[in-house]
Amino acid sequence: MEATLLYEGKAKKIFETDNSDEVIINFKDDATAFNGGKKNTFSEKGRVNLAFSKFFFDLLHQKGITTHVVSFIDEISMRAKKVDIIPLEVVVRNFAAGSLCRRLGFEKGMELKPALCEFYLKDDSLNDPILCREHIRYMNTVTEEELAYIEQQALNINEIIYSFMDSKGITLVDYKLEFGRTRDGQIILADEISPDTCRFWLKGTMESLDKDVYREDKGDLVSSYKRLADILGLTL
Ligand code: TMP
Ligand code: ASP
Repeated sequence: MEATLLYEGKAKKIFETDNSDEVIINFKDDATAFNGGKKNTFSEKGRVNLAFSKFFFDLLHQKGITTHVVSFIDEISMRAKKVDIIPLEVVVRNFAAGSLCRRLGFEKGMELKPALCEFYLKDDSLNDPILCREHIRYMNTVTEEELAYIEQQALNINEIIYSFMDSKGITLVDYKLEFGRTRDGQIILADEISPDTCRFWLKGTMESLDKDVYREDKGDLVSSYKRLADILGLTL
């Protein structure tokens, strides 16, 4: 019997399972940027992003971070705890790039120490606007305590991934996380962690090994992702 599709986003499809607390997440080969304004399909991209997500989630599990991962099924699918995604995109930045430079005129590559944690509303129809904490208070999607917890988790995750990548000669410039709420009310890290959702630069340079290659037409996306995988010793 065909599994029931619960949701289809820009990069993933979510299917029901026989366990009402779990879903199957299928990684698509599509890449979008600018809230879907630019869209292409790359063969292997789903598989490559799932391999990176497994790699980073495994690293986080070793360091005691709870995530939505239940297991990895095949090259493009994982089983995850079913969560209600909190409609916040949590962005942590170690160096200025992307929208921060566009919005505030910060010089690309400027170090942000301590790391900057920002929140954006996850809503394509509004172009994912940046939020201040006061806005979040009116939204009734998270309590103050939950928001503080999410920020602390995002910063802890930053320490873990930043130092790991640094030891491999890669700079974690910034990244986006999403959190979800389980049926019993626990907030856990969800979605994916991949070069689609992070900026990675070769250490000491601003050479991108991430989706900026696609956003800024700087070369072949999948080859850049494979180059990053090689550096990490990740077999694809
Ligand atoms: P930004 O500089 O465009 O705000 O992006 C910050 C980080 O968040 C960058 O690593 C890319 C990631 N990101 C996503 O994963 N999804 C998004 O929709 C956006 C806007 C950014
Ligand atoms: N993920 C967003 C989009 O699809 C934006 C981005 O990553 O640049 O459009």
